[in-house]
Parts: sequence; C-alpha cells; structure tokens
Amino acid sequence: MTTATLSRFTETILRRVRHEAPGDALSHQRDDYTQAGEPGSSAAPDGAEGSQAAGSTPHAASGHDATTGTRIITIECQRYNPDEDSQPHYRTYQIPFTHDMSVLDGLQYIKDHLDGSLTFRWSCRMAVCGSCGVMVNDLPVLGCSTFLRDYYPNGLKIAPLSHFPVVRDLAVDQSDFLAKLERIKPWIIPSRPQTPAEGPNRQTPAQMDQYYQFSQCINCLLCYAACPQYGLNPEFTGPSVLALLQRYNADSRDHGKAERMTIVNAESGVWGCTLVGECSAVCPKGVDPARAINLNKINSTQDYFLRFLMPRSGKRETA
Ligand code: SF4
Ligand code: FES
Repeated sequence: MTTATLSRFTETILRRVRHEAPGDALSHQRDDYTQAGEPGSSAAPDGAEGSQAAGSTPHAASGHDATTGTRIITIECQRYNPDEDSQPHYRTYQIPFTHDMSVLDGLQYIKDHLDGSLTFRWSCRMAVCGSCGVMVNDLPVLGCSTFLRDYYPNGLKIAPLSHFPVVRDLAVDQSDFLAKLERIKPWIIPSRPQTPAEGPNRQTPAQMDQYYQFSQCINCLLCYAACPQYGLNPEFTGPSVLALLQRYNADSRDHGKAERMTIVNAESGVWGCTLVGECSAVCPKGVDPARAINLNKINSTQDYFLRFLMPRSGKRETA
C-alpha cells in the first residue's frame, strides 16, 4: 500500500466514524485520541450510539467505500464496570472495517478511537496464546481468528465467555479453571528421578500419536463456555482439563495415571459429562475433549472393576 493510499484510507475511516464530509476528518484527530484516553467516561463518544439492555438484536449497518474497500459494521459490546454498574449492559458502536479485520481488531479500534476504557484480553493475535476468547452472537470464538466480514451487514454482539464471573467488560475470572488445571498435575511424572546425563526418553511416532492432539490445547476456555454441564454444575472438572489429563496419562514417559484417576473417578470427574459434544465442536485447535472424556469413562469403568479384583491399591492379592 502506498503512502498516499494509506493516508486516504485513514482519512476515510475517520470520516466514516464521525459521519463527516470529505476533508474534515484529520482536523479532529487530536480530539479523537483525547477521548480514547478518558477511561470510565459515561458519555457516548463519537461512533458509540449508547447503551441498551442485553438481549436485543444488532442493527444492520451499511456504507461501502469502493476505493478503500472499507465498510461500516455495528458492534454491540457488553460493558460492565463493577465499580460503577449494578449489572452488565450493552453499548453500540459503529466502526469502519476492511476485509482482513478480525473481531479483535474491531475491539482494538473501539479502544483506540471510541472508548479507551473497554477491557478485553489478547496477546499473540494468531490463535496461539488462547487469551482472546469471547462470545460472538452467543457462540464462543477466538477474537483474533474470527472476522468482522462474516457478520456483515447484520452486525455482531460481543459478550464475555459464558459460565465465568466477569471481572470487567470482556475479561473473565479464570481462577476456577486454573485451580482445576493444577490439580491434574499437568506435567510428566517420571517413574523415578532422572538426571539429564541419562539422556532423552525416546518415543516412537505411534506413542506420540496417543497424546499429540490433546497437547494442542491453548487453554482458551471456549469449550467451558460451550459446555452446558459446566454452566449447570461449576464443580464439573470440565472439558479441557480432562483433555489435558488424558494428554499426560497417554504419554509413554508419564507414570502419574494412578494419581490422576482419583480426579477422573470423582463425582466432578468424567461422569459429570452428558455427551453433549459442544466442547469439541467449538475448539479452535482441533482438540477433541469429548473423546478424551469418553476414553476416561472406559478407564474409570476398568478402574472400578479392578478395585474388586485388586482391593489393595490396585495390587493383586497373593495367597
Ligand atoms: S480444548 Fe480446545 S476449546 Fe478447550 S481450552 Fe483447549 S484449545 Fe480451547
Ligand atoms: S490473541 Fe492469542 S489466541 Fe487470540
């Protein structure tokens, strides 16, 4: 893109946001950044249409600049500041977007140009870190790999991930997930202490296949937001923690399976799953938590019957 094209593109975007005639936009650029630096402002800034109750449908948006490929889309975004708001509410923004802009880019546009107090998480912008999960039109997605173009012209409604307490706006409290993750000991537990001098523990491709897909989890929590069982019973260990449990139990280098089976067998373990399968449907990394849970239902059943045959901690009794 040449400098002239970039300049024309920027000017068009600013003009669209303010509904100004050509040539007016750049003279107001300074005010724009001043607004973005006023966190907590209750007034609706340029481009923000104001608050409305949760549950309504996003407005249709129009406007297309054939020169730059810029269009205007309406984003309804859930806002909640626990210091000021008694409950969450929606605020509506109209933003300019191009074909390559993600939902995360849209949120960043709002933060940079319309309301600097908007709070959301992100880091890698490439579906690796798992930070940017949000609900878009009631489905859990990664903001950085979901594109605004797919919601044009109807617009989109963005909310924090379901089933988690909201800290502020789109940021949720992940404490419950992190505590459960720690409990499964998500690391390789060796059969005996080893030193680096002993060299690596080699694996065949077939051994690696046993756990590889489960190791692709990025802890984005989309599967928890999609899981109705976790919504009904927060004690349920949940999809990705059970998938990661399987990742280590299935690793030929690991010897921690017996320890982890107490979590699998518990009331909050795999039997809390009712096979809805939405966890696997929404996973952006192709992990299949539903399969991990089913495999561990088999393990749990075997464990149950083995306890009758070998009642002393899994050791067969000898005469
Ligand atoms: S299993 Fe998939 S959806 Fe669930 S946390 Fe891991 S990557 Fe995200
Ligand atoms: S920003 Fe890292 S996964 Fe989206």
